[in-house]
Amino acid sequence: MSPRGPRVRVALATGPRPWPGAGPADLAVAVDVLRATSTLSVALANGAARIVPLTDTAEAIARRDADPGSLACGERDGRIVPGFDLGNSPSEFTAERVGGRTLYFASTNGSRAMRNVSSPDSGFAAWTLGSFVNATDTLERAAGCATVFVACAGKLGRFALEDAAFAGWLCARLEARGAVLETPAARMAARLAPSGPGLRALVEGASHGRYLLSLGGTFSDDVAFCASLDGVGGSPTLGPDGRP
Ligand code: MLT
Repeated sequence: MSPRGPRVRVALATGPRPWPGAGPADLAVAVDVLRATSTLSVALANGAARIVPLTDTAEAIARRDADPGSLACGERDGRIVPGFDLGNSPSEFTAERVGGRTLYFASTNGSRAMRNVSSPDSGFAAWTLGSFVNATDTLERAAGCATVFVACAGKLGRFALEDAAFAGWLCARLEARGAVLETPAARMAARLAPSGPGLRALVEGASHGRYLLSLGGTFSDDVAFCASLDGVGGSPTLGPDGRP
């Protein structure tokens, strides 16, 4: 009997490709809960015109300088990069700042995952951003596909609990709708899926969550926001050019 939902594969940490269990899919979901895909979900909801994930901060500045009206955004060690217009806090990406603009985005881990899933040779027909803040819209987007690949950014190519937890949240709900979890990582993640009340504690207790909390101020606010279920919504599919 053919599955009633998508066939789902997950990579729990996506350093350099090839990734385990990848292969062609209708949709790739890039996941970096703290904070890139949470932040950029806010940016898209606030009207950002295009997301260009980059791994080099100097390139982000050069591309911004050559593209009037665009912004260089992102972080290193969680903090804004000197010369950038915005850091990587969701609260910075207001409609006034990002509406209609191209974002040249260079973060430590999320950019690499987004760059890999959006490249023309990725084998993915489209890509989107997955996070807790746009969880339900991402679920609905994925449920309409035949094949889905969830690419967790992880941290420096290694497992990140908060990313795996969102992958599990998504996989558990897709499986409940009849999807087939094709890889051991997808099935393990689904068993890790956090319940509502424990979500914030999980994100705050994760390694990067604890680091951001140690920075205090808006960084602490960011962790709370990134742990909020459906805090902003939206799950537009993006093309290789990073336009919705
Ligand atoms: C990342 O890409 O690793 C994160 O977004 C880093 C951060 O924003 O703290």
